[in-house]
Amino acid sequence: MKRIAGKNLILIGFMGTGKTEVGRLMAEFLNRKLVDSDQYLTEQEGMPVRDIFELYGEDYFRRKEKEAIQLIAAQKGLVLSTGGGAVLDCDNVAVMRAGGYVVWLDADTAALAQRLAGDDTRPLLAGGRNLADIYRSRLPYYSRAAHARVDTTGKTPLAVAREIMALLRDADY
Ligand code: S3P
Repeated sequence: MKRIAGKNLILIGFMGTGKTEVGRLMAEFLNRKLVDSDQYLTEQEGMPVRDIFELYGEDYFRRKEKEAIQLIAAQKGLVLSTGGGAVLDCDNVAVMRAGGYVVWLDADTAALAQRLAGDDTRPLLAGGRNLADIYRSRLPYYSRAAHARVDTTGKTPLAVAREIMALLRDADY
């Protein structure tokens, strides 16, 4: 646990992997402040992510997301839960890895499809885009950014958070 002292715990991963809920539990376990980048952007922009995409487009969202990640990840001692596309930007990955221990929450695509069924808050899944295609295209980004990977398939957020606690005890980074 010594190694995480002063560093951020950063959760990355595809939509529906439980980053926000697991982040909440980790903040509780570690007695730290949780910052959720999507929540931060929602407050900054005064509207939900879906509306930011709809009104201003994805490029605008990514610019704002980058500003937010650069600002938040440069702080210390936080739990940061990121939006699923935050790792697409290499500067984001650099700042996350420099000041944090980056944990990738993963799940198989069948589990993700089930968790995300009927969700209308995620603009990338609107318009019939194939979840498995997006997932596959993201894999190299998550894998490059992460210090560790946790498979969340069939696990509760609590079980996942406990697994991360065990990782932090053993982590060597
Ligand atoms: C996105 C994931 C979303 C949100 C936005 C874009 C992505 O966050 O940032 O809709 O590109 O994967 P969650 O991973 O919290 O759903």
